[in-house]
Amino acid sequence: MSHHENNPVIYLKDYLPPAFLADKVELTFDLYPNQTRVKSAIYFTRNEKRESGLPLELHGADLKLISLSLDGQSVSDDRYVLSDDQLVITEVPDRFLFEAEVEIDPANNTSLEGLYRSNTMFCTQCEAEGFRKITYYPDRPDVMSSFTTTVIADKTEYPVLLSNGNPVDKGELDNNRHFVTWQDPFHKPAYLFALVAGDLKLVKDSFTTMSGREVALEIWVEPENLSKCDHAMLSLKNAMKWDEEVYGREYDLDIYMIVAVNDFNMGAMENKGLNIFNSSCVLARADTATDMAFQRIEGVVAHEYFHNWSGNRVTCRDWFQLSLKEGFTVYRDQCFSADMNDAAVKRIEDVSMLRTAQFAEDAGPTAHPVRPDHFIEISNFYTLTIYEKGSEVVRMIANLLGPDLFRKGSDLYFERHDGQAVTVEDFVAAMSEVSGIDFEQFMRWYSQAGTPQLDVSDHYDAETKQYHLTIRQMTPVTKDQQDKLPLHIPVKTGLLNTDGQDIPLILVQGEASGQQGDTDRVLHLREAEQTFIFDQIPDAPVPSLLRGFSAPVKLSFPYSQQQLLHLMRHDSDGFNRWDAGQRLAVDALQTMVSEFESGRVPELDSGLVEAWRNLLGSDLSPAILAEMLSLPEEAYLGEQYDVIPVDGIHACRRIARKTLAQALESELRTCLETHQLSGPYKPDADDIGKRRLNNTCLSYLMTLETAEITERVWQQFNQADNMTDQQAALTMLVHSGQDEKAREALEQFEQQWQQDALVMDMWFQVQARRPQPDALARVKALMSHPGFSLKNPNKVRSLVGAYCGQNRVNFHGLDGHSYRFLADVVLELDQMNPQIASRLITPLTRWQKFDAKRQQMMQTELQRIAQAELSNDLYEVISKALP
Ligand code: TRP
Ligand code: ZN
Repeated sequence: MSHHENNPVIYLKDYLPPAFLADKVELTFDLYPNQTRVKSAIYFTRNEKRESGLPLELHGADLKLISLSLDGQSVSDDRYVLSDDQLVITEVPDRFLFEAEVEIDPANNTSLEGLYRSNTMFCTQCEAEGFRKITYYPDRPDVMSSFTTTVIADKTEYPVLLSNGNPVDKGELDNNRHFVTWQDPFHKPAYLFALVAGDLKLVKDSFTTMSGREVALEIWVEPENLSKCDHAMLSLKNAMKWDEEVYGREYDLDIYMIVAVNDFNMGAMENKGLNIFNSSCVLARADTATDMAFQRIEGVVAHEYFHNWSGNRVTCRDWFQLSLKEGFTVYRDQCFSADMNDAAVKRIEDVSMLRTAQFAEDAGPTAHPVRPDHFIEISNFYTLTIYEKGSEVVRMIANLLGPDLFRKGSDLYFERHDGQAVTVEDFVAAMSEVSGIDFEQFMRWYSQAGTPQLDVSDHYDAETKQYHLTIRQMTPVTKDQQDKLPLHIPVKTGLLNTDGQDIPLILVQGEASGQQGDTDRVLHLREAEQTFIFDQIPDAPVPSLLRGFSAPVKLSFPYSQQQLLHLMRHDSDGFNRWDAGQRLAVDALQTMVSEFESGRVPELDSGLVEAWRNLLGSDLSPAILAEMLSLPEEAYLGEQYDVIPVDGIHACRRIARKTLAQALESELRTCLETHQLSGPYKPDADDIGKRRLNNTCLSYLMTLETAEITERVWQQFNQADNMTDQQAALTMLVHSGQDEKAREALEQFEQQWQQDALVMDMWFQVQARRPQPDALARVKALMSHPGFSLKNPNKVRSLVGAYCGQNRVNFHGLDGHSYRFLADVVLELDQMNPQIASRLITPLTRWQKFDAKRQQMMQTELQRIAQAELSNDLYEVISKALP
């Protein structure tokens, strides 16, 4: 393990083009679990963009160098310098053939980066800087080359040998070994390299592209998972079609492969022609996967597919530009999922995640801009800010241009930069060129961290019939940025009259897109404070602000309860109708929390009860109704405070749920009866909405803890033909106060599913999130369960991650035991898998948001971690988080 002193801070401003370019790369892998040999032949040419005479500098990590030659001549010891992370060769010609052989140890590679073993297979993960663990190479995305890869392995254990591109040769060798050679004609950076070897089985299909080419689609899995590939395959075909229709993008190779592996640090990886997936993001069957998993698979399969253009054909110049591919690709996959399902629900889900998790990141010690300007370890920057806020920034651009110009802009971007490694400026330049829009101020969205706060006030002048909206913007200071400048913020706005109808908007002061008289205008906020004036407004309106969540900001407006009820009932914008309900609930819960904090008995505002009663009597779609009936999560409620009242939030949310269930029991029961499903399981938007609504109602009713409801939940647990309903019932039973029922359900579930690792992830997670005070003891005990392993990221996330990140009341228990527990796990994990360790520590880094006692205990644990020998990953996070 390298120490942080070896890995200094890298700055965007120091970027220099590479000294050498690779014209062609030939690799040969002789696979053995502990002693894999990798031979490389790389044709280098000096880059004219750099000065002459520079040495050849190649990255390398954990490699054992066996041999080295230039143009067929072995290189004498005095001509090269080998360090922990580099091979430097001086006095090289302008063009030459570099050849090396190295030995690596995949079986002991627990970082899951580079070439490693997962179960019995070999696989790779090279993004961002993992290729250097495979062989010496200029491991940076602006060095693009064509790759030819020969994989050699034992024929019996590894009958399937895969790499990028097309298979061009194969044959038998001595000692029961065989080989396959793959050729990828597309130039790519090393981070898109992939190799897989194993005893895998194939699900095959095909897709005919818009120009009539037939593409073979292959999903490779372990034999027992063959029945779980249909949904991923369907999602892939839908994504291919969608990208043709919406972006005019066609697939380019003759074959597209997906491989499912159990041990994987992230969701999936877009390697050219050979995507490697966390099995949790591919495998689904009605009885084993929840609706949420089905939808995640659809989204991730599409995401990786869309990278073929936004990422692979046009890639990033350097890792500071990561959001160029990730933000854009998330935006693309969000739009795809919106088109495949219920668009309003999708938007609500994405915004909820952004507002809880990304806003918290942007306010915490690891806050960074969408385009960071420095890092120690790039793996730490695969964040919600790069992905989700990055997507919001692209969405704002798309909304500023409108669909036709945005398509023109993306066409120009793809055409102009095909085969290149480019920057955020290149993307924005294409958008600016086709639209004539000036993005100079807008570019601050890429460079400024922190969530802007908008404070809006209004004034209606009955004399002039004019309505004034004054908006102030302020971006709070973040760890490395003290001075914040005003951003260019699109604020989509409507005004509702007393009947709830949209008023035509005639703007007489302030800049806005759209036409005079439209009922929706996008106000362009550019100044620290600006007043927009609307003319011919007959009566004082209710403003509907930030429709569709038109910018990633916090917006406050002094809404009365009446105004929120009005928006909830009438707003033509579905997102804002939901958001009005959430604001109402946040207000009610905050009132309860202050009662709780001052020792009074918290009581839920009857206004909220009546609002929820109205919802249950409305004709909203089941999916939207389920969203609207759900109280804001504890994490979102916590975000509303400077110091999070953890216990108060938890207690009051529970009381509020029970109060609602008591008051609305008969409405909830009626709702449940009217939305029963029949027929076989279908993961489509309608059925998903109905299941979601039913389980929402049932879990409200479960708070009443009557024998009858418990029995009903138990029956659902036993009889469900799908995992959505079974898992929902399991959660209700395990999270209720009925310990005996909980124990029985867990035992039965384990019996039923112990052979299925992905289902068992849910079993661990349900227990990790259990609100009862025995949760920590249970989590600790479960770490010795035979199905648990610290080496498997899915297991770590399901148990430790879920407990520390989602079981707030227990994690923040005042004895501090959970803080100590997390620190212990992270220290152990850092020895094996630094990427996962540095992600898992997140909850401890957020100490600023808690009271003095908790702060102190959290800091103590951070300090204890800081004493140890740490990976660069963990070192960077800890050093930012320390007071
Ligand atoms: N590019 C991948 C994606 O967003 C992200 C990814 C997969 C990744 N595996 C990783 C990033 C490992 C860092 C490390 O689709
Ligand atoms: Zn991605």
